[in-house]
Amino acid sequence: MAEASSQGPTLFSPFKMGKFNLSHRVVLAPMTRCRALNGLPQPALAEYYTQRSTNGGFLITEGTLVSDTGAGFPHVPGIYNDEQVEAWKKVVDAVHAKGAIIFCQLWHVGRASHEVYQPGGGSPISSTDVPISRRWRILLPDASHATYPKPRRLETPEILQVVEHYRQAALNAIRAGFDGIEIHGAHGYLIDQFLKDGINDRTDEYGGSLANRCKFLLQVVQAVVGAVGADRVGVRISPAIDHLDAVDSAPLTLGLGVIERLNKLQQDWGSKLTYLHVTQPRYAAYGQTESGKPGSDEEEAVFMRTLRNAYRGTFVASGGYTRELGIHAVASRDADLVSYGRLFISNPDLVLRLKLNAPLTRYNRKTFYTQDPVVGYTDYPFLSNANGKEEPLSRL
Ligand SMILES: Cc1cc2nc3c(=O)[nH]c(=O)nc-3n(C[C@H](O)[C@H](O)[C@H](O)COP(=O)(O)O)c2cc1C
Repeated sequence: MAEASSQGPTLFSPFKMGKFNLSHRVVLAPMTRCRALNGLPQPALAEYYTQRSTNGGFLITEGTLVSDTGAGFPHVPGIYNDEQVEAWKKVVDAVHAKGAIIFCQLWHVGRASHEVYQPGGGSPISSTDVPISRRWRILLPDASHATYPKPRRLETPEILQVVEHYRQAALNAIRAGFDGIEIHGAHGYLIDQFLKDGINDRTDEYGGSLANRCKFLLQVVQAVVGAVGADRVGVRISPAIDHLDAVDSAPLTLGLGVIERLNKLQQDWGSKLTYLHVTQPRYAAYGQTESGKPGSDEEEAVFMRTLRNAYRGTFVASGGYTRELGIHAVASRDADLVSYGRLFISNPDLVLRLKLNAPLTRYNRKTFYTQDPVVGYTDYPFLSNANGKEEPLSRL
């Protein structure tokens, strides 16, 4: 694969993302890390995010709860009360001091929850009352795993209350100093539970047709944009990822349907969202393949390219990108930006390492979701103190 053409963009060339001047195209993907004890960002989060900050770099936070019914992992941060806003300010200030730009990912897990995470031990909410299948297990606060319980199907009038939680959370995020927010519409969580026809079995105006299944996402987008402006809002979708049973019978049609509607909104507003972030089918996590029907590399590249060409705005690609694939995606204009997840966990100076083609440290899955504020979180080595212990990229 070509490193980069002398004229075209490279993974390391600047990019204007709406009003933000990025110095390179390597983005920190949103990643839940379970270190925000009792929902409050701790000093360790400031350390973790500043370690991964570069001057002009772009970071997206871990999924951050829009309400107290939104959790499905232990110790995830929230952005729905003043204490959380105050705690986030310290993280955001530390990241800004390094010259980086940071968006807060707004998250509600919907049915991917458990009574232990719900206020009053109630049932998790969703588009449906069908639970996630026994193929999947939820991580509980005591580190054990359980099957997912039966959710409570939201009544039609309740849905606008959830939309309002997203709007308020976006305002809170801006109050905390974030440069913008990302709406998490991916990976089988609440918004995806409305989008996918393999989950959404509603008979009201939020179910059935593609237009109806898109309605909740679009209401969230419009509410959030109305509150903080389109130029501070990104949207994430994963039409081809079947994580947590989020299967759709026509992923490409779904992706294009969402994009067509976002394009139309952008036209009506006369301004663009900051970006669209799409997880690509080849992404596999938790040791399992997440694409329901894994296609060939070429089929998957065509899938992403089709969405990229349809969307009128900045396109961020995520999922399984190595150095070589990221360089190729930007050089071939398949993506404007590439978000890196697992490699960024274990390589706080990933941007420098990719630039230098330096060896990469291998990540340890066992500490992805543990609570230690240092181990597996802020103790991965920088090039300057790595002592040559890294494993080559080909081994990851
Ligand atoms: C530990 C872990 C936590 C994650 N948490 C989130 C999350 O909170 N929100 C989200 O949109 N994606 C989440 N993801 C998915 C990543 O953003 C990313 O799309 C995925 O890891 C694929 O990219 P990679 O191959 O570079 O790791 C998570 C992934 C991992 C490994």
